[in-house]
Amino acid sequence: MTTAIEPASDLLAALDRGESLPAHWYTDPAILEQEMLQVFRRSWNYVGPLRELAEVGDYVTGHAGNVPVLVVRNDEGLAGFVNVCRHRRHLVMKGRGKAALLQCSYHAWTYDLAGGLRRAPRSAEEPGFRLEDFPLLPVRAEAVGPFVFVNLDPDAPAAETCYGPVLDIIARSGVDLATIELHSRGDWAARANWKAMLENYLECYHCAVAHPGFSAAIDVRPDVYTLASHGWFSSQAGRVRPAALEGRSKIELYDVRGAVAESQYHFLWPNLTININPGFPNLSVDVWLPDGTGATRGFSEQYFAPGVDPQFAEALVGFNRQVAQEDDDLTDSVQQGLAGGLPARGRFLTRSEQLVIQFQKMIARALSGASAV
Ligand SMILES: [Fe+2]
Repeated sequence: MTTAIEPASDLLAALDRGESLPAHWYTDPAILEQEMLQVFRRSWNYVGPLRELAEVGDYVTGHAGNVPVLVVRNDEGLAGFVNVCRHRRHLVMKGRGKAALLQCSYHAWTYDLAGGLRRAPRSAEEPGFRLEDFPLLPVRAEAVGPFVFVNLDPDAPAAETCYGPVLDIIARSGVDLATIELHSRGDWAARANWKAMLENYLECYHCAVAHPGFSAAIDVRPDVYTLASHGWFSSQAGRVRPAALEGRSKIELYDVRGAVAESQYHFLWPNLTININPGFPNLSVDVWLPDGTGATRGFSEQYFAPGVDPQFAEALVGFNRQVAQEDDDLTDSVQQGLAGGLPARGRFLTRSEQLVIQFQKMIARALSGASAV
């Protein structure tokens, strides 16, 4: 069953009162369809690190919502395409790597690195068929610092305009984006609506309750832990606890001592998060993609400064995995709560959950056809 989408003005007024989006926005396929069109096809979607697109022929695949995309470096620079063959719509490339030509593995239609169709077996005998009529569909591909994004909207503001300032905030943490190295990458899946998962990310009101290890490492008290909205992105920051630095935590932690004393948690609209934890310089990213209304899938990348101790890396990855599992348990439960539609609206605490309210306003604006910011 689908319900009509409420007017954005009503939703924004309710959000100002601390009343959440309606529950059916987390279960209704019609809402998800609008999110695919109005959020993911009009926003910057992270696909991978610029370092993996350093040489001509290097390519990375990803998604803009449900649209498969491909970024390749050619002689002109970065080029983005819909990663779907013009023939029978098989995916052209998979994963990431290096290629001289982009060849679909279904019928071997072959494109050059500028997206032009160069070869299609037997097409010379096809009446009226011209290779030049079937290039890969182009999309915008832009880098911000070490991060590469695509956008299907030709009118969207530049990625640098949206996210450029987050690089300065990250630099203040002590993490050098110019030298960090990719340590590991992995796919994940979870059983909650993508918005419920990001809303959980956007507040630390639950940290003291649900993340004992995290809260032992980082001071999550509201007068210390900060939340800031910057338009297209938002940032949370916390300080490492002195007790954790001195090894006096009651909970066993990874080694939090190191160049980074301020932890940072950035959300880049619509579905990229960037985490920095205290200790040896580290950074992880997650991309959160809807997988139907009641599930989310994504990928994580873990980065460290050069020369990381493998034991530290393993311990920090384990710490992050533990926090993610605790969050998944929370959002699984929220999704069960949303399933029946009652209560229709939740009630936010506007001084602790302002970034969640901000996110829901962006969703409401985007689904009305307006700019999210
Ligand atoms: Fe959490």
